Amino acid sequence: MKRVVITEARLATMTRGGGSYGLLDDGAIAIEGGRIAWAGTRADLPGEWSGVERINLGGRLATPALIDCHTHLVHGGDRAREFELRLQGASYEEIARAGGGILSTVTATRHMDEEQLVVSALPRLDALIAEGVATVEIKSGYGLTIEDELKMLRAARRLGTLRNVRVKTSYLAAHAVPPEYKDRADAYIDEVVLPGMEAAYEADLADAVDGFCESIAFSPGQMERVFAKAQALGLPVKLHAEQLSNLGGAKLAASFSALSADHLEYLDQEGVAAMKTAGTVAVLLPGAFYTLRETQAPPVAELRGAGVPIAIATDCNPGSSPLSSLLLAMNMACTLFRLTPEEALAGVTREAARALGLADEIGTIAPGKRAELAVWDVEHPAELSYRIGFNPLYRLFLGDVA
Ligand code: NIG
Ligand code: FE
Repeated sequence: MKRVVITEARLATMTRGGGSYGLLDDGAIAIEGGRIAWAGTRADLPGEWSGVERINLGGRLATPALIDCHTHLVHGGDRAREFELRLQGASYEEIARAGGGILSTVTATRHMDEEQLVVSALPRLDALIAEGVATVEIKSGYGLTIEDELKMLRAARRLGTLRNVRVKTSYLAAHAVPPEYKDRADAYIDEVVLPGMEAAYEADLADAVDGFCESIAFSPGQMERVFAKAQALGLPVKLHAEQLSNLGGAKLAASFSALSADHLEYLDQEGVAAMKTAGTVAVLLPGAFYTLRETQAPPVAELRGAGVPIAIATDCNPGSSPLSSLLLAMNMACTLFRLTPEEALAGVTREAARALGLADEIGTIAPGKRAELAVWDVEHPAELSYRIGFNPLYRLFLGDVA
């Protein structure tokens, strides 16, 4: 197995108990077969690594490679016209109820084949990778027929073969009720969402099951039926919850031991407590908060106080968050939600890994984890959240360096 040692690096290991950012000023990382065998202060590097090939980072900062744990990267078309309408005063909900919003993206997505979806998603994926992202979650949810949902998931899987990036997929047929099932949401669940989930599972296209619990989408009772099926198949669940109102979605998700509940602007104390008990990660999406000009921020102080892990993601989608910069999402999480820069960095590394069920594999610089590192031309990790519209990535190291 190939062995290599990274030296002359400042390390933000992001391990718990390591102090601020788990920072090590003169760090070294010993890598064997693509996994971290040892990480620490260079002077303490065990002798067995002395003759091994070195990669000198010239004093740059290395962090765990970034993880975008909530995206709708695969989709047809755009919603620039809707953006104009919102600027003229229409709300996101009004546009959705009038058949625009998510449903206009559904029409565009249904018209594209798998190849076209892949080609149109690549620039967005490349933008994320250029900022140090090595793992990205991608949802379906704009097909809303069994075939179109599977097509989206196949496109997502393909993206993972075209670039050096890990793709985790989520089956999100319970995203909106399509026009052909208008006012028949339960029939849509029975005839499309549930059998489509089974088909996605059989074809190994879904790593998790997601939904949108909201008055313009699905009720908690309907989501419960979707989650029961996921549970029967052994698929983990997650939920768009409490984004526009409080329906108790996070509590429902927690009762199914959800990996994450996402958005959460209208989360209440009961939801916070349920998430804590279940170990469900709070995925905050400041790009959607910003784009929709939401004024109620998620209850960060309560989440922090209860010890609920907090992750940050782009929610990259054509409507509520046309954002393909995870660094900007970190900045927004600090400025709009008052996260600390350390919480923001943990939110796109350690806690994002947890939100994808990958906490044993990635997310910190620690023995046993994959050697997936982002190397930055900055002195202090707070700079990653502080600058706006500036990308200081020097290099992305992936497991294949060794
Ligand atoms: O995460 N909340 C629901 N789903 C997406 C929005 C999708 C869209 O507007 O196209 C979200 O914000
Ligand atoms: Fe989303």
